[in-house]
Amino acid sequence: MYHVSVLLNEAVDSLQVTPGSKYADATFGGGGHSKLILERLGGKGHLYAFDQDEDAEKNAGEPVFSESQAFTFVHSNFRYLKKMLRVEGVRENSMQGILADLGVSSHQLDQPERGFSYRFDAALDMRMDVRESRTAADILNVYGAEQLQKVFGELGEVRNAKTLAAAVLNGRDQKPFKTTGDLLALCEKHFMGDRMRYKSQVFQALRMEVNDELGALEELLKASYDMLAPGGRLAVITFHSLEDRMVKNFLKTGNIAGEMKKDFYGNIDRPWKVITKKAIEPGETEINRNNRARSSKLRVGEKIKKTQ
Ligand SMILES: C[S@@+](CC[C@H](N)C(=O)[O-])C[C@H]1O[C@@H](n2cnc3c(N)ncnc32)[C@H](O)[C@@H]1O
Repeated sequence: MYHVSVLLNEAVDSLQVTPGSKYADATFGGGGHSKLILERLGGKGHLYAFDQDEDAEKNAGEPVFSESQAFTFVHSNFRYLKKMLRVEGVRENSMQGILADLGVSSHQLDQPERGFSYRFDAALDMRMDVRESRTAADILNVYGAEQLQKVFGELGEVRNAKTLAAAVLNGRDQKPFKTTGDLLALCEKHFMGDRMRYKSQVFQALRMEVNDELGALEELLKASYDMLAPGGRLAVITFHSLEDRMVKNFLKTGNIAGEMKKDFYGNIDRPWKVITKKAIEPGETEINRNNRARSSKLRVGEKIKKTQ
């Protein structure tokens, strides 16, 4: 099994898929959400599916996708959504729905050689797109103490980020970081609180840094607004509190800082109608079936036509 889709029906229902319209799945992965969107399109309209991982691209070879006239796979980072859709001939303000299901797939975590998981000893890689040059080992071997502290503290919410950053600098003076085992040995020495949780926080933080996940999300959010038609919907599933806050702020105010903007007359500018006042979370049945779903949150917004 490549990946079990999270909040599958909730996310696709929220897009209100209408045959004849255009949609994008920014994170194709195993294609679970894409398959349901395509089914609901019934061959009319079009779905553009993005993924930066070449393993995910192979899933687009399944007949349900490759034989569909209504489907196009785009092997690209979703931060280039607008540019890549333009190449496909899609105009701004013309799409009815965009979905993003962030983070990594189970397949990526389960492939030892990708270096995403502390369960296997492998090269410290963690690139979702292997065409990129910077790996997790590069970050550990090159970043300064403050940069590393920021990564561990902000992205990983690690309580002793300063200590861990100093330990990385110390460690690499003796021997550069090469494998997940090298990093794990350091976690074993310095973990605070629950050992497993600590390891997963450190690994997650590095992965988010390697792939510039917050930067890519910000660009995706902005591009989505431009690509959607008024009334079109954006649905985002997050697995990290910082990502969730970015999406929540963006849907509330049109910017990730969450700053309310006012027009010349003092009216608050609201680019989105927030459909999910409270994020949608998976029920107990889904969490029991798929533990990975436990930290997921779905937020949905509908683009409001600007009145000028
Ligand atoms: C959680 S999985 C998506 C699973 C998919 N919704 C399904 O039902 O099978 C996330 C996928 O998004 C891809 N991804 C993450 N960030 C990306 C980005 N910035 N650009 C393109 N793809 C990205 C990953 O490579 C991974 O395959």
